Amino acid sequence: MRLLAIESSCDETAAAIVENGRTVLSSVINSQVEEHRQYGGVVPEIASRRHTENIIAVTQKALDDAGMTLGEVDGIAVTYAPGLIGAVLVGVNFAKGLALSTGKPLVPVHHIRGHIAANYIAHPDLKPPFLCLVVSGGHSHLIEVLDYTKFRIIGRTRDDAAGEAFDKAARAMGFPYPGGVFLDKASHNGNPAAYKLPRPRVEGSPYDFSFSGLKTAVVNLLHNASQKGETVNTDDLAASFQNAVVEILTDRTVKAAQEFGYETVVIAGGVSANSGLRSRMEKECQKHGWKLYQPPLSLCGDNAAMIGAQGFYEFEAGHLAGMDLNGIASLPIDVNYGE
Ligand code: KG4
Ligand code: ZN
Repeated sequence: MRLLAIESSCDETAAAIVENGRTVLSSVINSQVEEHRQYGGVVPEIASRRHTENIIAVTQKALDDAGMTLGEVDGIAVTYAPGLIGAVLVGVNFAKGLALSTGKPLVPVHHIRGHIAANYIAHPDLKPPFLCLVVSGGHSHLIEVLDYTKFRIIGRTRDDAAGEAFDKAARAMGFPYPGGVFLDKASHNGNPAAYKLPRPRVEGSPYDFSFSGLKTAVVNLLHNASQKGETVNTDDLAASFQNAVVEILTDRTVKAAQEFGYETVVIAGGVSANSGLRSRMEKECQKHGWKLYQPPLSLCGDNAAMIGAQGFYEFEAGHLAGMDLNGIASLPIDVNYGE
């Protein structure tokens, strides 16, 4: 089965053709990051407009690159939640138009489920059940992936998502948006023990995360230094911050794997590109004799191939939408379409 997949939930307009959830025949991503950078973050109204302008050309290129016509695809998969609502709606309405005009099935896909499914593309042997740490710009979750469309949330962030914390701390340190990747690069030249930063815990919820206190500690440290006329070594601060976030994420994941008896651990989402997180997770999983799956860097960020991968399993489970499909800004991962 070959699905045409559409993704427009944030600032990437993307389309892909994916066969049987595992093989990518084409994947096109049009990123707006350069335009949003001048504002220090994604401007929702601009994102929606650019999606509207680009979605036809991006989709046509995905079809051309796969050597296919619209008539040859077996269904249309689209991100319907969660995301910036105006941006999500561009993809949803475009996909509905394609489904209506071709008579093909319309498959609604949860964006975070897509991030997890990026791993199915990269790792043909990966099958549920497994434990997954999903860390992106908008989400930080520890999830039991019980089956392809069955999820149980074990832990979540109480405030900022991991990517959001990276971006806010990076901004305070003077890196351009989105700062996560710049902070990651700088951390390679720094000493992770140079600055003492907190490791916030959520009382009574051992698998939940809280990053806002950590971000505030960085902002305060920079502020105090500037008031005293002291210089801060940005590489050291970046390394110390990254070390703290990675320690928090890995600590919760290892505890959850032990408690719930998982020997297969998966990471997903934009922050799974972080070099510190990847190497620390590798080390921990090796130590415990667990198998670790991580997406290749090309599939960590937003793309439509991952939506096509998850779309296949949603289709198999019979999760299809009609012309009443609507975009949803916020939706837990464990809710199936129509439930
Ligand atoms: O999954 P994603 O592309 O979009 C959402 O669904 O949110 O994640 C984007 C997030 C941004 O916050 C970005 O700074 C972060 O992932 N990110 C990183 C790295 N690469 C991307 N954070 C830390 N280190 C990285 N290397
Ligand atoms: Zn994403």
